[in-house]
Amino acid sequence: MSREKRRQVSRFPRSLFALYFLTLLLMSGIHMGLVVLIDEYHWHSIIQVLIPTLYWGLVAAALTLFTRHQIVKTYDRPMKELAKAAQRVAQGDFSVYIPPLHTTNRHDYLDLMFLDFNKMVAELGSLETMRTDFIANVSHEIKTPLAAIQNYAQLLRRPSLTKEEQENYISAILGSTRRLSSLVTNILKLNKLESQQIVPRFQPYDLCGQLSECAMSFEPVWEEKEIDFEADIEDRAMVYGDASLLELVWNNLLSNAFKFTEPGGTVMLRQTSDETHVTVSVSDTGCGISPEAQKHIFDKFYQGDTSHATEGNGLGLALALRVLQLMNATIQVDSAEGHGTTFTVRIPTEQTRKESS
Ligand SMILES: Nc1ncnc2c1ncn2[C@@H]1O[C@H](COP(=O)(O)OP(=O)(O)OP(=O)(O)O)[C@@H](O)[C@H]1O
Ligand SMILES: [Mg+2]
Repeated sequence: MSREKRRQVSRFPRSLFALYFLTLLLMSGIHMGLVVLIDEYHWHSIIQVLIPTLYWGLVAAALTLFTRHQIVKTYDRPMKELAKAAQRVAQGDFSVYIPPLHTTNRHDYLDLMFLDFNKMVAELGSLETMRTDFIANVSHEIKTPLAAIQNYAQLLRRPSLTKEEQENYISAILGSTRRLSSLVTNILKLNKLESQQIVPRFQPYDLCGQLSECAMSFEPVWEEKEIDFEADIEDRAMVYGDASLLELVWNNLLSNAFKFTEPGGTVMLRQTSDETHVTVSVSDTGCGISPEAQKHIFDKFYQGDTSHATEGNGLGLALALRVLQLMNATIQVDSAEGHGTTFTVRIPTEQTRKESS
């Protein structure tokens, strides 16, 4: 039976009619018997009136009690339970669970209401946890660079500083402010993407040109870290997407690859196309990601290195995933700890979009 159909099943069974009908039939039978009895014994006329009145009074009282019991059992008790649960939720307790009244195959609309209520409370609970986690994460990410700025600023006050020390402290302060500023920019961007304030501007464009530009902007990084960078990109591949949003994805994948690869390692950018999709993969021979960490890398603020010694705030992949979802693209990670990582992105080609629209 479908969920909707089950909803419509009444909480008062049809058998109740039969019960009332048979009871009243029986009662009126007894009434007739009483009348015959009274006639036979020629009782006083007052008793003749009193006995049936008393009898029907008792019958009415019994029926009232039975109906009251039915209403209490059917509506009052479940509603009171729901009211109590709702009150607990209103007070901030999201561990509330109301068990359904019947087994799964006999669910009626009240059972479904309870199940929906439980689901709502669970959702609210997880939203609340996400909110508190988010505040804790943001506070932590802000606190670390702020503490660094404070310390270096205090050191700068020393009168006996050499020029070199001064320069070092100033660059440390500037590094921390850059970190703070990128944190705020990323949070704002993610927030706008999630609340759909950024409407992607879809347009056909050449992905190969964009990939080459992004890769070239990392030249100072691979030169400084002495990382071997290899690129294997086609001449032209038209995709349909928002170029400025997709740039965030390539920049983050490449920055991660360079960040998590030791000097002397290799980073590879590959791009291929088939009829339906353009595939971009970024591989590195870096530290790799454990299977457990792979489950969390797309979570906001997740950083494998919990000491937060590496640069960043753990927002890059969360942003990349959100952007790719908006572009109807997919991202996949393959990694072996100690050997390296490959992120593979698949974006529909412009042709696929034309055919599907
Ligand atoms: N190529 C990679 N090799 C090893 N670990 C990686 C790689 N890419 C991502 N990770 C792991 O996933 C985590 C999350 O990545 P993400 O890009 O979201 O954050 P981040 O790079 O630490 O900070 P941000 O991107 O905000 O600057 C990283 O901290 C790292 O632990
Ligand atoms: Mg990153």
